[in-house]
Amino acid sequence: MSSQIINETIQGEATLLSAPFESTGKMLYLESYGCAMNFADSEVVASILQGAGYATTRNEAEADVIMINTCSIRDRAEQSVRTRLRAFKTRKKSQPELIIGVLGCMAERLKKTFLEEEKLVDLVAGPDAYRDLPNLIKQVEGGQKGVNVLLSRDETYAEISPVRLAKDGISAFVSITRGCDNMCSFCVVPFTRGRERSRNPLSIVAESRELFENGYKEVTLLGQNVNSYRWNISKKGEIQDETIPTTNFGELLEMVAKISPELRIRYSTSHPKDMTDDVLHTMAKYKNICDYIHLPVQSGNSDILKKMNRGYSREWYLDRIKAINTILPGATISTDIITGFCGETEEQHQETLSLIEHVKFSFAFMYFYSERPKTLAERKYQDDVSLEIKKRRLAEVIELQHKQQLDYNSKTIGRVYEVLIERVSKKSDEMFSGRNTYNSTIVFPREDYRIGEYVNVLVEECTTLTLKGRIVKA
Ligand code: SAH
Ligand code: SF4
Ligand code: F3S
Repeated sequence: MSSQIINETIQGEATLLSAPFESTGKMLYLESYGCAMNFADSEVVASILQGAGYATTRNEAEADVIMINTCSIRDRAEQSVRTRLRAFKTRKKSQPELIIGVLGCMAERLKKTFLEEEKLVDLVAGPDAYRDLPNLIKQVEGGQKGVNVLLSRDETYAEISPVRLAKDGISAFVSITRGCDNMCSFCVVPFTRGRERSRNPLSIVAESRELFENGYKEVTLLGQNVNSYRWNISKKGEIQDETIPTTNFGELLEMVAKISPELRIRYSTSHPKDMTDDVLHTMAKYKNICDYIHLPVQSGNSDILKKMNRGYSREWYLDRIKAINTILPGATISTDIITGFCGETEEQHQETLSLIEHVKFSFAFMYFYSERPKTLAERKYQDDVSLEIKKRRLAEVIELQHKQQLDYNSKTIGRVYEVLIERVSKKSDEMFSGRNTYNSTIVFPREDYRIGEYVNVLVEECTTLTLKGRIVKA
């Protein structure tokens, strides 16, 4: 795409609707679980309900409506939501008019159980049904249950301006795709979130620009597989409408990066099968696109990857790592790992360890396999690795990963990094916390600086997760 078209695209007509706010005096308490996309959705929900007169509160005791935005990815995630719902139900005994709603991925999966068998909630809304929430609340107020779990092929909430619920005012999530078409055999997301669809690039740029104009310094573009973002391009690569420009992920990144060199851009999640060199070249071209890539590998063994239906082999993954290291020298890479997937042998597990050793990830989310209803793996394969072995393998993966993280962090001692100050440190009021381009968290004394400023920090100490240092003049 030429820069001419990018400019036209950025300046095109795209306005975001902040919901008009006429207070009813009613309060909404929202609690979110799961991935960043769920947290971003909660901000869309807050915006939609603001339009219906609900202000948000952080104090559940003053809520008229409690919504819990849920995750189904592993059994444990669902269990913690159930515990919370039981606590809310107890609260309802002393406040009978309280409305309790389940949103998100569990809504899709378990609406019947919640409403009929356990009678835990009044309202259930799936990820594509949030525009219907004011109406569903009215149904509940009228004495009925409110239910909408229809999945959509085109809902992206594109023109809704989310109400920012995070406190810092510096870093925000911006959704660019919804749903997922990949059908990894272990994963429940395609069932809970439906088909993949991309959001209009104009609305993505407009939202990012609005954030920047309101003092935000970082946006993270979100999707289950951001690399497959495409606007006006069919899956086969054909242009769908000759009258409007096409946009792929690399081009979208460039459009957002051009808003201002002062606005940092991150994105998540990349899928190794779709991670192309053009995206890496765009990252190399713009200093404000952070040199950090989350590239979940899941397993280091090609046969397991095939059974997982991931669409790439160990060799393909390592080739992508090589491309990153060549085009973006020094960039950090993080990953997700699953241990004990169906039929995983000791040798195959060893290949995961050797891959971790080879790539040297700066960070990893690590899990043992949790079978999910309806998925391909549940229907086709035996969940035959015992819990004990799954956990032992997970412990080995964690141990190796933490050792490598510490090695990586130790090498940063003595270096100076540009850090965006994001918040006061959780551990001490006298310290700030921020991140460098590589997504390392650094804490340092506040001095006279302010949240939202860029400072240079010299690293002096480290742990597995955090670097510690002090501000130095450039
Ligand atoms: N779209 C992202 C992942 C989203 S889910 C991707 O494709 O990489 C986040 C992570 O949860 C996955 O990467 C995987 O490591 C983990 N996960 C998903 N389903 C799981 C399951 N059934 N058991 C254990 N971990 C799982
Ligand atoms: Fe799940 Fe795979 Fe889609 Fe990620 S890419 S959300 S793991 S199906
Ligand atoms: Fe969980 Fe749904 Fe995200 S299952 S990980 S909240 S897409």
